[in-house]
Amino acid sequence: MYFIFFVIIILLKVFKADFLIFLEAGGIKGLPHDDTLLYVQELKAYYKTPNGLVKAVDNVSFTVRRNEIFGIAGESGCGKSTLAMAILRLLKPPGFINGGKVLFKGKNLLKLSPKELREIRWKSLSYIPQSSMNALNPVLRIKDQFIDMFKEHGIKKEEKEYEEMIKELLINVGLAPEVMNMYPHELSGGMRQRTIIAMAIALRPELIIADEPTTALDVVIQRGIIQLLSEIRRKYNIAIILITHDMAVHAELADRIGIMYAGKIVEIGSTYEIFKKPLHPYTDALINSIPILGVKKTLKGIKGLPPDLKNPPPGCRFHPRCPMAMEICKLQEPPLISINNRKVACFLYR
Ligand SMILES: Nc1ncnc2c1ncn2[C@@H]1O[C@H](COP(=O)(O)OP(=O)(O)O)[C@@H](O)[C@H]1O
Ligand code: SF4
Ligand SMILES: [Mg+2]
Repeated sequence: MYFIFFVIIILLKVFKADFLIFLEAGGIKGLPHDDTLLYVQELKAYYKTPNGLVKAVDNVSFTVRRNEIFGIAGESGCGKSTLAMAILRLLKPPGFINGGKVLFKGKNLLKLSPKELREIRWKSLSYIPQSSMNALNPVLRIKDQFIDMFKEHGIKKEEKEYEEMIKELLINVGLAPEVMNMYPHELSGGMRQRTIIAMAIALRPELIIADEPTTALDVVIQRGIIQLLSEIRRKYNIAIILITHDMAVHAELADRIGIMYAGKIVEIGSTYEIFKKPLHPYTDALINSIPILGVKKTLKGIKGLPPDLKNPPPGCRFHPRCPMAMEICKLQEPPLISINNRKVACFLYR
């Protein structure tokens, strides 16, 4: 009897994080994958505006596994950046979180104190913001920006030791060590993006949220950043949430993709399956609107415009643009259901 009790205590100690995820997930129902690192559950993030509530993230659920690149795709304005900021609790007024959970290694980030959050940021969970070009402090040399971050996380070293650490990080992202003595305005767009990536990996986080890391860069520089993200994932075993509207970037980097439309996740699947056989008509339209290397096809735009998130269409939010729309689509919202290893929210799969 005592022995069984003892074994249970040991198991709880060893698997504490997974056990907490299990409990937070509501027991067996909804239990995420064994190697779940992040579990976003029914997250709602809205903006209060004079003309009404913008429901930018509306009941979004998904998991990110250790060491995977999870892509979030969707047209501009569908809520991707709001989702990133809500997960990181960086959403500023008029934005606010209106419910849900963000379980990172079993801890609900939405319930952490500011001090606990500061400890997790950069160290376990770091962020490459959409406007990363402006994310560096213009009046501080790159070296001093790294040192500030190290100090903030209790890493106290001699100047020379800091310099060695920064040098190694800069080399690892393909930059010359001399960059540490430069100011942000002396760097090109690609060099600044590499510097931000070096800062994001500096404290060896387990998850990086990268919001449009290749957007606004020219094609050759984009290629380098795609390769760099792929290398750092492999080298440091980091999971990445890769947010971009660019399906071609997802095709190259992501292991799985969540497709967002008008504040909702409408499909989740492996990148291979999503591109091979998209289930949701919106995913299909997204894929057909981009050129894919080696595949001959006629490119089709997506007809119509994304809805106003203050007043989205009833039922399925995609129905006014959907070539497959049925009567029920105007009346009821399709739930996100599982089909084998995939999830889809569409009445074509009842
Ligand atoms: N500060 C804000 N105030 C009001 N609405 C906002 C604000 N920021 C974003 N939104 C709205 O939230 C929706 C989602 O925006 P965003 O998350 O930036 O989308 P994405 O990153 O996919 O382009 C859009 O309709 C946008 O207009
Ligand atoms: S639920 Fe209906 S309108 Fe929505 S994507 Fe499916 S078929 Fe189209
Ligand atoms: Mg965005």
